[in-house]
Amino acid sequence: MILRTAALAACLALTTALPAGEVAEFGKTPEGEMTHVYTLSNDNGMKIKLLDLGATLMAAEVPDRDGEKADVLFGFDEAAKYLSDDNQYFGVVVGRYGNRIAKGKFTLDGKQYTLECNNDPNHLHGGGDKAFSKVVWEAKASDDGRSVTFSHSSPDGEEGYPGKLDAEVTYTLTDDNAVRIEYAATTDKKTVLNLTNHAYFNLAGAGDETINDHEITIFADRYTPVDETLIPTGELAEVAGTPLDFRTPHQIGERVDLMGEGEGAGYDHNFVLNKTASDRPGLHKAAKVTDQDSGRTLTVLTDQPGVQFYGGNFLKGQTGKDGKTYAYRSGFCLETQHYPDSPNQPQFPSVVLNPGETYKHVCVYAFSAE
Ligand code: GAL
Repeated sequence: MILRTAALAACLALTTALPAGEVAEFGKTPEGEMTHVYTLSNDNGMKIKLLDLGATLMAAEVPDRDGEKADVLFGFDEAAKYLSDDNQYFGVVVGRYGNRIAKGKFTLDGKQYTLECNNDPNHLHGGGDKAFSKVVWEAKASDDGRSVTFSHSSPDGEEGYPGKLDAEVTYTLTDDNAVRIEYAATTDKKTVLNLTNHAYFNLAGAGDETINDHEITIFADRYTPVDETLIPTGELAEVAGTPLDFRTPHQIGERVDLMGEGEGAGYDHNFVLNKTASDRPGLHKAAKVTDQDSGRTLTVLTDQPGVQFYGGNFLKGQTGKDGKTYAYRSGFCLETQHYPDSPNQPQFPSVVLNPGETYKHVCVYAFSAE
């Protein structure tokens, strides 16, 4: 019989180069599996927290223009809340397919696959209990203690997706206050894949009641219009002349009411990125957001063709870390991704992954203060 003490379990969960104090238990799943929180720090004193549960980015303490730090990320204090139906995907990795697949169906080589329709009538963010946001990933720190790599192996047919998929997500906190997220995956059967991170930000500090005063630029001339179930119509429409035109900076709140009101209404769109060059090799600029009061600024860079700008339209005062509540439209997500429903839209960039190929995706959340 093997006895696993909590300390041994923590040790097994992380082949560590992190100081012992930087790994802590985060509570058990209902099945009794212990989860862990990992803290990374850089030479500037910035810290981020990561969870093996959902390979989650759960906290980021970011300085403002006077050096005053605030945690700008939404999250929960308990593992059970990340596993609840109302987890809102705070900071988790969503997969296998981030965003929606129409009616949970797609066809590869003449064979139809059926996924759970967990967002009636569609499939959303990888489905149910075995979605990537709801499982405990294995963790390994880099030798320099600057990164943690989470790995997860998903068996053939899990959540309805073909192929045994081996996925890795590496988070690195760099000394210029950027969180670099690198995804990699391989399959043993032709499949579809679209991983992303679902972090919610409020640059005034998570729990602040609004993002309306944040100024956003999105480097996109076009977006993918959707039907009433949020599935793309297939068109790549111009943002010009619409409240989605963020090619020059606008406050998020300036035109949001033109997008409708009530649960779900507002900004929740996939933008077709222009591939605007950035100062990081291989990455283009997706978006830039500034909270003018604090000066905290987030620049999002990626190698992906799209970004979902979601303005927190389904938030309704959920209680998160330190008892803070997250009000309607008080946080935004910028999910770097392939376009929604790509498996059913052959004119969109392909999301097919074949055996022998490696899926790769880089997203950088770079923080600064203006
Ligand atoms: C977003 C999606 C929204 C909503 C949200 C989770 O990625 O675009 O429509 O489902 O996740 O509440």
